[in-house]
Amino acid sequence: MRKALVVGNWKMNGVRSDATDLAAAIKTGFEDNGAEIAVCVPSVYFSEIGSLLAGSSILLGSQNVAEHDSGAYTGEISAKMLNDFNCHFAIVGHSERRSYYNDSNESVARRYNQSLSQGITPILCVGETLEQRESNETFTVIDQQLDAVIDLAGIESFAKAVIAYEPVWAIGTGKVATDDQAQEVHAYIRNKLAQLDAGIAENMQILYGGSVKPGNATALFAMPDIDGGLIGGASLDGDAFLSIYQSTK
Ligand code: 13P
Repeated sequence: MRKALVVGNWKMNGVRSDATDLAAAIKTGFEDNGAEIAVCVPSVYFSEIGSLLAGSSILLGSQNVAEHDSGAYTGEISAKMLNDFNCHFAIVGHSERRSYYNDSNESVARRYNQSLSQGITPILCVGETLEQRESNETFTVIDQQLDAVIDLAGIESFAKAVIAYEPVWAIGTGKVATDDQAQEVHAYIRNKLAQLDAGIAENMQILYGGSVKPGNATALFAMPDIDGGLIGGASLDGDAFLSIYQSTK
């Protein structure tokens, strides 16, 4: 049986004191319900937040990882470096990376592989823009995003990965996908993987992301193929984030 997972993506928000205050609030208020929980924090705070969360069940994650192993790649952070800080997860292919920094499907696949090479679980983000949804390209886009990773890393790699479906039009907009809209895409993803490996598909954690709030999390997480959430804005409020965590089934 799949465990639910709730991951906070803090993005590029706040300063050091905000990060430590937030981590401390989450640690203090956390009540384990059997689901998994993680925070993907700005990398400059890995060390401090990692120490603060040590001994708790709250896992540390990165918001990205380099596509290369090491070398002259100014500004990039390698999977080996993430490993130094016990990062459990690395988000790859977030739509903000894809659209603002031109992370292509192939580059995302290489980042995914780098993450796995260090035993770090990649959280592979996929999702369509509003324009793509309106022109009925949602499933084509999802196929392309997943196929690039399947081609490079193989279906077996998904046994050690997490997928997050984040419709771009729902991120930071307050426009959440309806439960049925999200479920439809989650089921599509699971069925696609099942055609390659039924066992891996059944065990795959597929998170929903895009304007998840305490008020809509319970209904989303109740859908059969939604195994938790990747939370942006609401993860910056400790109480809201923990309330979303408690909405897991
Ligand atoms: P919001 O929850 O702010 O819409 O962001 C979702 C997201 O991008 C998480 O990665």
